[in-house]
Amino acid sequence: MEFKHKPVMLNECIQGLNIKPNGIYLDGTLGGAGHSKEIVKKLNKEGILIGVDRDEEALIAAKKNLEQYKNVIYVHDNHDNIKQILEKLDIKKVDGILLDLGVSSYQLDEKTRGFSYLGENELDMRMDKTQKLTAKEVINTYKEEKLADIIYEYGEEKFSRQIAKRICNQRKIKPIETTKELVEIIEKTIPKSKQKDGHPAKRTFQAIRIEVNNEIEPLYNTILNSIEVLENGGRLCTITFHSLEDRAVKNAMVKATRKMYLPKRFTILYM
Ligand SMILES: C[S@@+](CC[C@H](N)C(=O)[O-])C[C@H]1O[C@@H](n2cnc3c(N)ncnc32)[C@H](O)[C@@H]1O
Repeated sequence: MEFKHKPVMLNECIQGLNIKPNGIYLDGTLGGAGHSKEIVKKLNKEGILIGVDRDEEALIAAKKNLEQYKNVIYVHDNHDNIKQILEKLDIKKVDGILLDLGVSSYQLDEKTRGFSYLGENELDMRMDKTQKLTAKEVINTYKEEKLADIIYEYGEEKFSRQIAKRICNQRKIKPIETTKELVEIIEKTIPKSKQKDGHPAKRTFQAIRIEVNNEIEPLYNTILNSIEVLENGGRLCTITFHSLEDRAVKNAMVKATRKMYLPKRFTILYM
């Protein structure tokens, strides 16, 4: 696994985390450790970095990227379990948490993972390959109405109803097995005149991926739980990619602020 892209908003994150050399930091979306490498560089021997990813391939890449650093704990888990993760490590509070949400460029580029609408691969889209639910199961077993709702809500796709209908008609003939078959269904459904805004399958693929990986529903509580495990003066830094993530994070921040539940000197910066 190779991560070729520059970490998103790297300087802003490092600045936002305000790293203390002897602090404990948790990167809940380790990926190829682009952000984590900059965090760990700023730590001394007492400082600890906990790198969490639900994708075992990401952990392998991160270990390679961080091999010279000994103060890193790697955890294969879902960051939604942040409290349990820390409990298992016997750590009560951390000084900073980073969540760079969503899918990685590697996961998108690595066609065999089934996240990409380019090429022909099995409909998988699982970030965690130990999980049971795959894109193939979603596409071939969900009821038409549920599929349409997912494509509309998570993909903001105007043709969601028509796409779901065609998927359900098609799968009566034969199960939909590959990314290419799904792309063809979408291309046949969206009128050519409306296919100008990027690849026509982009929104549906995003929606199915979000459903497979349950990316939105737990996020609100994850943010609240993350705030709870911060030391006084600790920092939570979140990078969101689309409006659904953004909304969940901001709603949780607002709730936390209202409940006066934030650690002392907790500052919210929206960039
Ligand atoms: C945008 S990438 C992070 C890239 C990373 N910041 C870097 O610099 O390389 C998101 C990563 O988070 C992981 N991920 C997404 N949701 C997760 C979750 N709920 N729990 C744990 N890891 C998650 C993905 O598997 C992916 O590797």
